[in-house]
Amino acid sequence: MISLEGDNPKGRIFLKYINIANTELNASNIIMGNMRINQLSAGEAEKLIRTALDEGINYFDHADIYGKGQCEELFSEAIQMNPDIREKMIIQSKCGIRPDLGCFDFSEEHIINSVNGILKRLKTDYLDVLLLHRPDPLMEPEEVATAFEKLHTSGKVKYFGVSNFNPAQIELLQKTLPYKLVINQLQFGIAHTPMIDSGITLNMKVDQSINRDSSILEYCRLHDITIQAWSPFQHGFFEGVFLGDYEKFPELNNTIDKMAEKYGVTSTAIAVAWITRHPANMQVVLGTTKQQRLKDSCQGSDIRLTRQEWYQIYKAAGNMVP
Ligand SMILES: NC(=O)c1ccc[n+]([C@@H]2O[C@H](COP(=O)([O-])OP(=O)(O)OC[C@H]3O[C@@H](n4cnc5c(N)ncnc54)[C@H](OP(=O)(O)O)[C@@H]3O)[C@@H](O)[C@H]2O)c1
Repeated sequence: MISLEGDNPKGRIFLKYINIANTELNASNIIMGNMRINQLSAGEAEKLIRTALDEGINYFDHADIYGKGQCEELFSEAIQMNPDIREKMIIQSKCGIRPDLGCFDFSEEHIINSVNGILKRLKTDYLDVLLLHRPDPLMEPEEVATAFEKLHTSGKVKYFGVSNFNPAQIELLQKTLPYKLVINQLQFGIAHTPMIDSGITLNMKVDQSINRDSSILEYCRLHDITIQAWSPFQHGFFEGVFLGDYEKFPELNNTIDKMAEKYGVTSTAIAVAWITRHPANMQVVLGTTKQQRLKDSCQGSDIRLTRQEWYQIYKAAGNMVP
């Protein structure tokens, strides 16, 4: 546990760590996402990464496509990647999206080539976790298993997971794999809650009850797959940030602001706390490029909102609780 005392004058705040099931990874429940770091200079990126480490974040999320590889490159250059700093980090990257071809690609050749490129750009010998970025309908599970086997036995990847997968897609892949899939990265935040909506209004004739993901949240909990919540502050598919948007989300922002006042933290921390309060023990994948916002987010790592507060926020986002 890392004390953030001093940052929060009204009380002690701790960054929470979780054990990723079926691994030896003890991971911060806040992840630094690196999709946007190519907006920064090397100096700025270094400060952001150092701030993350100082706050106790030990988990860093990448993908081969972020900035067409620039984000991974900038990351390793900015911190002058070396064995010492590498050992302080859990590094995850993703593959399987081919913007160059306009398709998804889970072929053995692509997975292996992609990981080789990732390792080169990140200047490291291994990834702690590799995720398949988005389900490829042309996936042949045996082929993926062969690729994973080669990557694992050569020491290039320790653990495997997926992103944006539903339960049946996970089972189909898992069937041929000698390794347990340990992560599913999914979009989740106060203004994007399909994962819980349908369960709350089960069997009702309202849009909210449409089950859009075959109950992926419950599936992951049942199978000890850690969920990582991406785009925690966005609404829709990259339609914008709900925090501070009083025009579109007046009730939500007013509710969050009141709780921020009560806990003596920023509204950003409350938005994070709303996710970490869920008993699935999710990790929150931040996308900010600002040091202060990153620190504010960490303050939400281990705030335990009351049950009533959690529901108040859910309802203020426009959801029904029958
Ligand atoms: N698996 C997938 O399919 C998938 C998809 C998308 C993303 N991801 C991962 O998830 C990470 C996070 O995604 P994201 O960047 O879309 O998430 P996000 O944290 O919800 O959004 C961050 C963006 O919102 C801006 N922002 C403006 N006001 C903000 C506020 N009050 N609080 C927080 N942010 C505010 C940030 O600007 P500033 O930089 O100025 O703070 C930044 O541009 C990515 O880095 C990536 O690692 C995964």
